[in-house]
Amino acid sequence: MKGIILAGGSGTRLHPLTLSVSKQLLPVYDKPMIYYPLSTLMSAGIREILIICLPIDIPLFKKLLGDGSALGCSFSYAEQPEPKGIAEAFIIGKKFIGTDSVCLILGDNIFYGSKLNTLLKSAENPLGGVVFAQQVSNPQRYGVVSFDETGTAVSIQEKPKHPASNFAVCGIYFYDNTVVDVAKQIKPSARNELEISDINAVFLEHKKLQVIELEAGDVWLDTGTIASLSEASQFVETIQHRQGIVIGSPERIAYEEGFINESQLRQLAEQYSLSGYGDCLLKGLKP
Ligand code: TTP
Repeated sequence: MKGIILAGGSGTRLHPLTLSVSKQLLPVYDKPMIYYPLSTLMSAGIREILIICLPIDIPLFKKLLGDGSALGCSFSYAEQPEPKGIAEAFIIGKKFIGTDSVCLILGDNIFYGSKLNTLLKSAENPLGGVVFAQQVSNPQRYGVVSFDETGTAVSIQEKPKHPASNFAVCGIYFYDNTVVDVAKQIKPSARNELEISDINAVFLEHKKLQVIELEAGDVWLDTGTIASLSEASQFVETIQHRQGIVIGSPERIAYEEGFINESQLRQLAEQYSLSGYGDCLLKGLKP
């Protein structure tokens, strides 16, 4: 399975922070934001990853993440010159996806939960699509999914004024290879974007969309506003300090997933001996 991180967009809700810097390069506590979705993809066992961003940001993401070989992965990069919608990722990424299935994650979404990687791994090789949903207090800001009395998803609407439920579709989506053709078929919405909700609605109509509810203890945050960015930073700080672990670290996930060995992790940690991140990477390992 291939992975795509969508890290373009205009970040207007974070202006002036994002006037000259990509949202996904801003810090969430002690790491650049993109580390979190990257770690999530890697924890799902995905090693071939395409990062889609604004043309001007490609050198910056390359400087930060390189070609992925140090993490036992392969990273490549593609441009989305304008934010024409989340679903455009499958058109831009068509060649990269090839004949494989694909997982798309939004560059400003953070996931955390003890069993989340098992849940994400269960979505590999989907027949159709697999998406996740969680109750939120502000469903109007998201794609909203509603369920019938048997718990089967019946509708998906993008940013509805009058949401049919409180369940928002999270920013991580798994599809089989047919998503590339579905993305070509859908038309831009009234706000001139190719909507991921329209892709999901097509799969739903063909009864090929599985919607999995995240458990209440699973954490899904987006970081698109000043308040949610600050909350996400505080969340990461609290968990890391209280539990003495590091979260959202691609180096650590690479080690835990067996993409690199302990001596490779130690070498990576050495680069960060002055910032404290190096110590974070080695937490829990014998000295
Ligand atoms: P949004 O938060 O919906 O959009 P944005 O990042 O442009 O921010 P704002 O609404 O404040 O202007 O995007 C969610 C994520 O998806 C974010 O990581 C950016 C990414 N994205 C793209 O890369 N390209 C796109 O065309 C869109 C719509 C989003």
